[in-house]
Amino acid sequence: MEIGSITFYIQDIIVSKEYQGKGIGTHIMNRIMDFISSVTADGAVVGLFTAKGKESFYKKFNFIPSPNEFGGSGMIQYWNERFN
Ligand SMILES: CC(C)(COP(=O)(O)OP(=O)(O)OC[C@H]1O[C@@H](n2cnc3c(N)ncnc32)[C@H](O)[C@@H]1OP(=O)(O)O)[C@@H](O)C(=O)NCCC(=O)NCCS
Repeated sequence: MEIGSITFYIQDIIVSKEYQGKGIGTHIMNRIMDFISSVTADGAVVGLFTAKGKESFYKKFNFIPSPNEFGGSGMIQYWNERFN
């Protein structure tokens, strides 16, 4: 399989404030990563954007920040005048 021939995208894991720090986010991510590994093979790419300051949470699941030696920066466009 070519790198990137199957692509997954994870959008915002959010745990209610009163339940944070109890392992729920880890459980959700483990379920997602188990699902991905059950339906795919070498060469798949899994992408996500982190909220500011949340990088360390996703690093635990082997996500690497970009830019890096393989790729450039992630880019995003907000369709909202607040951000333009
Ligand atoms: C980030 C978030 C999903 C983590 O969920 P959680 O249930 O609180 O996380 P867990 O209890 O499973 O903690 C997992 C690990 O991540 C760390 N962690 C938890 N919250 C974190 C945070 N806000 N920033 C960085 N690391 C965090 C914990 O210290 C823990 O580390 P350990 O395994 O070394 O003890 C949750 O804090 C959240 O919903 N935050 C607000 C929404 C948000 O910004 N989501 C990210 C969108 S990209």
